Parts: sequence; C-alpha cells; structure tokens
Amino acid sequence: MLDIKTSSLTLDSAINSYIETHKDRFIKELCELLRIPSVSADPKYKSEVFKTAEAVKEKLVLAGADKVEICPTDGYPIVFGEKIIDPKLPTVLVYGHYDVQPADPIELWHSGPFEPVIKDGNIYARGACDDKGQMFMHIKAFELMMQTNSLPCNIIFMIEGEEEVGSDNLGVFVKQNKEKIKADVILISDTGIIANDIPSITVGLRGLTYVEIEVTGPNRDLHSGLYGGAVGNPINILCEMIAKLKDDKEQISVPGFYDDVEILTEQERAEMAKAPFNLDAYKKVLDLFDIHGEAGYTTNERNSIRPTLDVNGIWGGYMGEGAKTVIPSKAYAKISMRLVPNQKSEKITRIFKNYFESIAPKSVTVQVKPHHGGEPVVTPSDSVAYKAASMAMETTFGKKPIPIRSGGSIPIVEMFKSELGLDSVLLGFGLDSDAIHSPNEHFGVFNYLKGIETIPYFYKYYSELSK
Ligand code: BES
Ligand code: MN
Ligand code: MN
Repeated sequence: MLDIKTSSLTLDSAINSYIETHKDRFIKELCELLRIPSVSADPKYKSEVFKTAEAVKEKLVLAGADKVEICPTDGYPIVFGEKIIDPKLPTVLVYGHYDVQPADPIELWHSGPFEPVIKDGNIYARGACDDKGQMFMHIKAFELMMQTNSLPCNIIFMIEGEEEVGSDNLGVFVKQNKEKIKADVILISDTGIIANDIPSITVGLRGLTYVEIEVTGPNRDLHSGLYGGAVGNPINILCEMIAKLKDDKEQISVPGFYDDVEILTEQERAEMAKAPFNLDAYKKVLDLFDIHGEAGYTTNERNSIRPTLDVNGIWGGYMGEGAKTVIPSKAYAKISMRLVPNQKSEKITRIFKNYFESIAPKSVTVQVKPHHGGEPVVTPSDSVAYKAASMAMETTFGKKPIPIRSGGSIPIVEMFKSELGLDSVLLGFGLDSDAIHSPNEHFGVFNYLKGIETIPYFYKYYSELSK
C-alpha cells in the first residue's frame, strides 16, 4: 500500500513539474502542426496533407518512438510508431487523425484558420480540437513518460490522414497489418467531455450513411417565363422529395429505416437522463427559441441513441448576384443519416436509394450516389481499460467521469472491434462549444494540458489493473 502511494506521489509531481516546465513549448509545437492546412477532402491541399504526415512523424521520433514510419496507402499515409518496452507487458494502440475539415466559410473566422492564435485561454485554428490538438496530447504525454521514466507498458501509434473522409484506406491497412498493430486495447482522444468540471467518457458513437443526390429535369436551363408552369423544376421537385423523408413527428419515412434500431430499456434511458443537462443554456448558446426533433425523446436521446436524416447542402440554379429568371436543368443535395446500434450503413444506403428513387415523378431523373459510411459502435464501460480511464480522469479532474453516448462518428472504431476484436476507450477532452467543423474552431489550453496530464495516469492504472 505504502509503495503504491509513494510511487503515485512521485508520478504526480513528475507529471505536474514536467507540464509546468514544458507547457509553453507544448503549445508552440501544437501551433506548428496547426499551421499546415491538412484538409483531406480538398485535393488542393494534397501536398500539405503529406507534409503534415512528415511533421507528425518527426514529432514521434523526437518524443522517443521507435520504428517510426510513414505507411503509404491509396490515399493519404498513416503515421506509425511504437515503443515496445517489454513484449510481455500490455500494449496500448493510440489512434488519432492529422487531417482536418475544410475551413469554409472562411469569411466567418476571426483569424486565419491556419494561423493559430491564443485568445482567452483557447487555441483557435482548424484542427485545434479535432483532432490535431487531441492527437498531439498523446505524443506529448508519451514524451513526458519517456522523459520521466514512467512508461509502464508498450505503445503503438497509428495516426491517419483520412478520418474526415471516411477512413477507407485505414480500414484496408488494419486488415493487412494485424500483426504490426497487435495490441490489447485502443486509446483515442477524438471526442469530448460534458464540461470542464463534469468529466465524461464516450461509450457510444453513431454510424453514418452519406449520399449525394442529383435531380435532372430539362436538358438545359430554361426561361422561367416561357417554360414556367409547364416543365418540372428540379429544385422544387427535390424539395418536395426531401419533405417526404420525414413525417410530422420527425420520424424518417424510408420504409424499413427503423427495423434494426436498438431500443434502450427504460432503465438505460433513466441512467442516461442522469447526465447533467440544461435545456435553456443549450438553446441560449445556439440563439434558438426552441429545439426540434423526434417526438417522444429528450434532446440527449435525439442526438445520441436515435438515428437521424439531415440535408447537409442543397444547391442548383442561379446563385449569383441579382435575379435571373430560370428553370434550372439540375438540382443537387447532400444528405447524411446518423445510425445507431444494429443499423448497417450498407443496408440503410440501399433502402434510402430505393425509396428516394421511388418517390421521384417521371418529369425528372434522380441519381443517388453513395459516399463513405461508417458503422455505429458501443464500447464497454465495465472493462479494465474503461476503469483505468475513469480512474485517470477522477485523479486529474477530482470527479468520477460519467459514461455518455455521443452522436458523432469515428468509422474505424467499429472496425477495430470487428477486425481486431479490440475495444476502444474514447478518452476525449473537447467541448461541444469548441466549434469543431465550424468557423473559429478552438481548443482550451486547460483541456489540452488536462489531456496531457490525464493520459499518463491511464497507462499507470491500466498496467496496474492488467497485472
Ligand atoms: N472527432 C469527430 C467525431 C466526434 C466528435 C465524435 C465529437 C464525438 C464527439 C470526427 O473527426 C468526425 O468529425 N467524424 C465525422 C465522420 C466522418 C466519416 C466524416 C462525423 O462525425 O461527421
Ligand atoms: Mn475527429
Ligand atoms: Mn471531425
């Protein structure tokens, strides 16, 4: 007993003094990464995405990782590195992503998305939270453990550059490199906590189906006076079709959509409802007079355990200055569906396509093109690794974290389970207010350093509990 206490006291002071001494450099190094615009969705940034992989590789080498390499894929590369201190000890695989979402709409940023600034305790830049900042916490925590001689087990790093576009090539890599990435558990910081004084650990992610719609009417844009009223307008028709995707209770009308949806027990729902939530504050930060969603479910249920269908973009016709009287030849939309346990992305894509094509009038032709997808996942909250993460957060936040299911998606997590049989621990430190994917994305300096502080405790407790 005394032994453990002495050793954790030593670890406490080692962690705290290392962070105190090096925190300015930790922030500066993160800013270097944030300066490289690694937008995976836009081919314009191709060389920058590759450059970011090089930068991550360099950081891993400097932190003390071995066998650091850039593994090519058919898309952007995966940065790999490891520190095997003893093959008999457990191995933790750290996953993260160095790619980011596009910065648009750029005019809404208060400072350049790739010119990080620190303001009011936050680091502002695209990727500050999602996921460069959170991924880099792991490299810095690893550096800390190497420098303070406190790494208690083996680590493998696998940092990809295509998470924001669906992780297809990482899926292939995982299937082909099972031996290379052999581990006991996966550790990921790419999610959030409820608040800085309410820690939480994510135990569920939704899946995703994403489609692009093209509606074609006449073979050219037409004068809306000469032809208006006599020819189908693809934009009007697209809107009518979209309106048929939900009923007045906000239930999705695609036949079969709910067939496989996991139904939580009343007890599970009651457990979920215990997580602190303030509806007025929720509306206030979004400047909303009211919320909107499926009848019979709370806000936190709607955004985590229930599936959704949302139009992400819709365009067509004349979008320039002034007025142009035209019936467009084409209309477009991008539609995403968030999926919950037991729904399968492939099946949902298929039934959506069938239904959407079936409601199209003969006056137009409709094409439904599937994009990337991802499967939903639930991770255990009774495993050794979860317990270690919980103890780590309890140590550094002074409060036991609450398990929560998130509405976001990280496609590879379900594959870690189905391909490798491995559970993930989603130990995130972001906040909903960090504006990930939005203008002015930021990450709290508090959260960044809290992550670096918490991660070494995860390793400590995980190794102790694994003995
Ligand atoms: N890190 C996010 C997912 C996330 C954020 C989960 C916060 C839980 C809490 C990830 O980078 C992401 O944005 N994923 C995409 C899916 C991907 C296939 C484009 C998403 O959820 O839209
Ligand atoms: Mn992410
Ligand atoms: Mn993201």
